[in-house]
Amino acid sequence: MSSNDDLIRPVQWADGATRLLDQTLLPGETTYKDCRTAEEVWEAIYALRVRGAPAIGVAAAYGLVTSVWPSAAASPADLLAEVEAAADYLATSRPTAVNLFWALDRMRGIARSSAVASAQDMKAALLDEAHAIYHEDDALCHAIGEHGASLVADGETLLTHCNAGGLATSGYGTALAVMFSAHALGKGISVYVDETRPLLQGARLTTWELMRAGIPCTLISDNAAAHVFAQGRVQRVVVGSDRIAANGDAANKIGTYGVAVLAREHGIPFHVAAPTSTLDMSLAHGGLIPIEERAAEEVTEGFGRRTAPDGVDVYAPAFDVTPAKYITSIITERGVHLPPFTESLKTDA
Ligand code: MRU
Repeated sequence: MSSNDDLIRPVQWADGATRLLDQTLLPGETTYKDCRTAEEVWEAIYALRVRGAPAIGVAAAYGLVTSVWPSAAASPADLLAEVEAAADYLATSRPTAVNLFWALDRMRGIARSSAVASAQDMKAALLDEAHAIYHEDDALCHAIGEHGASLVADGETLLTHCNAGGLATSGYGTALAVMFSAHALGKGISVYVDETRPLLQGARLTTWELMRAGIPCTLISDNAAAHVFAQGRVQRVVVGSDRIAANGDAANKIGTYGVAVLAREHGIPFHVAAPTSTLDMSLAHGGLIPIEERAAEEVTEGFGRRTAPDGVDVYAPAFDVTPAKYITSIITERGVHLPPFTESLKTDA
């Protein structure tokens, strides 16, 4: 299929509400939650009801409009103050995915610069911008898919970590866009999916998406990847990213770094697929990327019963940074960027 928009709409605008497909309930339940306040949008992002870097950006953009939609502000200046406060607040929901800040900055820019006669007109301009962010993301993801699919040979088996699919974007994905596009070209691919502890985005979300798209996939526990590589079962790894520094170091779901090192050891190409809204050229290297730490319970209780003694110390980083030296290429909507990334990201992006 060329698009899975018919199947997956993780973020939508619904008459003042930001409507989110609650990803914490997948794959068992397809339930949408209408967020009607800034607090509800913040909670949905924090709790991973909406997750994945581009989808967080889109949700924040609509969420900002939702936050000020009922406002009775008397003038554009008054509404601007509310927009700034809501953007500051939503920006505290999660720290790593730069798309959150990128989208909120775009929305602030509209509020600051729009020469509108009334607060109502400013609301309309903000909603237009949120729609633009949504539609642009969809176009970028399709371009990423096409560029990435050109790298994939017929009959290849790929591996991915976490979920960088339609659920993580406006509907088509980044790493999974490469797979959707290769599949649409009839390349006969199949995919190994890391389950992605602790919150199981691979097991719950990526397999769900691939199966719906009719792409053969096999779920493995995270600690099976080395064995699967050693057996020669995988020809290519493609993952998404939450933030890419100017030198190409790429933050992604915890465990991605290990997969990259293993891929290098086994001579398997390792690609990062992300829109340029995920680039943070203000950071020289990945050591400067803020890494979110999550609640201990996500490790000790996960989605089921308690699996560790009460009171145990837990360290729960949600992301790690894959050094650029392990990355074969970075696939954006502009094309396939090769090392040295300090040069190729600057000139191509
Ligand atoms: O904690 P999550 O589920 O938001 O983490 C998501 C990822 O790590 C994705 O791989 C990344 O955001 C890219 S999504 C296209």
